Amino acid sequence: MSSSIVIIFLFLSLFRPCNTQTCSSNNTNPCPPFSSHPPFPFSSTPGCGHPSFHITCSSPHSFISINNLSFSILSYNSNTSSITLSPRPNPTPHPNCPSSFIPTRPINLSATPFRVSAATCSRLSVLRPCSPPSLPNCSHCPSQCHLIKSPSHLLPDCRSTHHSPQYSDSPCLTNILGFLQQFLKNGIQLDWDQSRDPYWLLVPLVLLLQREMEERNGGAARARKKGAAVLSPN
Ligand SMILES: *[C@@H]1O[C@H](CO)[C@@H](O)[C@H](O)[C@H]1NC(C)=O
Ligand SMILES: *[C@@H]1O[C@H](CO)[C@@H](O)[C@H](O)[C@H]1NC(C)=O
Ligand SMILES: *[C@@H]1O[C@H](CO)[C@@H](O)[C@H](O)[C@H]1NC(C)=O
Ligand SMILES: *[C@@H]1O[C@H](CO)[C@@H](O)[C@H](O)[C@H]1NC(C)=O
Ligand SMILES: *[C@@H]1O[C@H](CO)[C@@H](O)[C@H](O)[C@H]1NC(C)=O
Repeated sequence: MSSSIVIIFLFLSLFRPCNTQTCSSNNTNPCPPFSSHPPFPFSSTPGCGHPSFHITCSSPHSFISINNLSFSILSYNSNTSSITLSPRPNPTPHPNCPSSFIPTRPINLSATPFRVSAATCSRLSVLRPCSPPSLPNCSHCPSQCHLIKSPSHLLPDCRSTHHSPQYSDSPCLTNILGFLQQFLKNGIQLDWDQSRDPYWLLVPLVLLLQREMEERNGGAARARKKGAAVLSPN
């Protein structure tokens, strides 16, 4: 009996799906694109929800950080489990380098639950720089030079998951950076795949344990506040 309670508390402290009073704080800050509290797996409360879906509420757009890159959340589609993100402008590495909107390193989604949607990848895959490409000073702007030569390197995830043929017949583009800037401003669509993330396996289990605990103690929130008392009953 008491060991099962210890296990329940262990799970609840590691992982809270945010359907309890403690997690749904009365924070009334607007949190677009969510109408009220961000739904699980998202959370704006530290320690709640899925750690990869922790967001910072803000207007006009809330933020999410993925592999240490910060993005504005433009939209969320619960039907398809996808979000559309736009990188937040970062300081230009050098004043003579064009375009501060494009991240200076690839948008690397490895070790995250996110995948770039097929639609977003296909828009990137048709990009072909004209030859010879017009480059800025590459000793100041190495990341821009790299992207102009290989635009698909912006989203390495697309190369590994979509082995699309190179569209060598598509017209070449002189202003690759201008295109990429607009592409990122419109937003890249990311899906998440629950089967790739062991975290999701715990969700039904934790919800079950939570419900059981609520039944036993008449409210998970009250129980958690008095956790020490429950753990050592008299
Ligand atoms: C809600 O806000 C009030 C006043 O700021 C605070 O006293 C209370 O603890 C908050 N409740 C929760 C669940 O955060
Ligand atoms: C993440 O970014 C912050 C600020 O840009 C930096 O200080 C930190 O070292 C970065 N962390 C990693 C793991 O790259
Ligand atoms: C999700 O699906 C419902 C029912 O099919 C539909 O009414 C709603 O507009 C859809 N939402 C989005 C964001 O596509
Ligand atoms: C992405 O990050 C992983 C480690 O997090 C690294 O092994 C991999 O090489 C990176 N991919 C690119 C294209 O930077
Ligand atoms: C690029 O910048 C370096 C360092 O400022 C400079 O020495 C070099 O001449 C520049 N190259 C061109 C092509 O402007």
